[in-house]
Amino acid sequence: MKILVTGGTGYIGSHTCVELLDAGYEIVVIDNFSNSQPDVLDKIKMITRKDFKFYKGDVCDKEILQMIFKENKIDAVVHFAGFKAVGESVIKPLMYYRNNIDSTLSLLEVMNEYNCKKIVFSSSATVYGKPDKLPIKENFSLKTTNPYGATKLMIEDILRDLYISDNDWSIAILRYFNPIGAHASGLIGENPNDIPNNLMPYIVKVATKELECLNIFGDDYDTLDGTGVRDYIHVVDLSKGHIKAIEKVIKDKGVDAYNLGTGRGYSVLELVNTFMKVNNVKINYKIVGRRPGDIDACYADPSYAKEKLGWSASLGIEQMCKDAYNFIKKIEEM
Ligand code: NAD
Ligand code: UFG
Repeated sequence: MKILVTGGTGYIGSHTCVELLDAGYEIVVIDNFSNSQPDVLDKIKMITRKDFKFYKGDVCDKEILQMIFKENKIDAVVHFAGFKAVGESVIKPLMYYRNNIDSTLSLLEVMNEYNCKKIVFSSSATVYGKPDKLPIKENFSLKTTNPYGATKLMIEDILRDLYISDNDWSIAILRYFNPIGAHASGLIGENPNDIPNNLMPYIVKVATKELECLNIFGDDYDTLDGTGVRDYIHVVDLSKGHIKAIEKVIKDKGVDAYNLGTGRGYSVLELVNTFMKVNNVKINYKIVGRRPGDIDACYADPSYAKEKLGWSASLGIEQMCKDAYNFIKKIEEM
């Protein structure tokens, strides 16, 4: 089985490439390095001791996609490529709509052309907006609060419409909760160049003293200690979910969405304290005002993914904290 991975050198994509290769799949990867580095390719090969084809290019570009499908018999696609920063999407909405929607339309059109109708798509818990109750189930109403989230919901709608028009498609929509952590080898992980928007990359940079102090956005939320609660999921667990989703789309036609989360929420302070404890390192932090748009709490009911995909998360918060720090220390040693 040959799987095309778009955005395969990115954070989740690279971990999923490892899991796909380890599971015996052949892969073909396309990425334009807009948010990743070429050396990730060698790292994936080092971890798996397997080789694969890589195309440097933009998924919006139908010509390169046609070349890939002509040169390789692709059985299914995992589509990660896209921009993902919520705040940036508010400032540059057109860039987000153009890249995320255009890349998906180009990809789906070329897949159709080559009669490859099996796709796993990276959606996000952001499509639930501010949920009315917790834990979040897949059948909750969908609404978004920023252009990034809107692109995810639009793509979900495009995929559902596509299936209605042609029942030959097999489509798995994966709604990720908060992926953190890194591969146990410490070779791949998340290391944004800019000042991180997300909590774990920020904590890690405070731990290495690259940044001075973590700002905790609010301690007056309706949660156990007042700080925001999220469903953090180890990126390796998340990647394994893609293997199960690939198995599903290969086996069954249809379109369905699955929550990929652990089902357990942790507060910002719980995550910070766990990070300090397991890594024996100090994180300076201060409480500041709420970040606009943030919600009190968000965590999944992951039972549908367990029932339909046979997947559930197994790595805990301590492992997530250890692996995230191990990855950054390895980079510093290089
Ligand atoms: P990432 O930025 O690390 O990876 C995305 C990859 O896609 C990058 O390597 C980037 O260079 C590439 N890319 C972007 N646009 C491209 C294009 N037009 N052509 C070719 N390559 C392109 O992000 P990630 O964290 O690995 O996320 C992967 C997917 O999962 C994204 O679609 C993201 O929206 C979604 N997601 C991520 C999170 C999260 O917290 N990380 C949560 C929910 C959903
Ligand atoms: N937080 C801080 N300080 C920081 C960064 C974050 O206190 O410097 C807090 C936030 O207020 C929130 C929690 O840490 O309570 C998690 O924030 P993140 O930015 O790490 O994650 P979000 O839940 O806000 O959003 C992320 C992605 C979205 C995605 C969502 C669900 O950024 O794209 O998870 O998957 F939609």
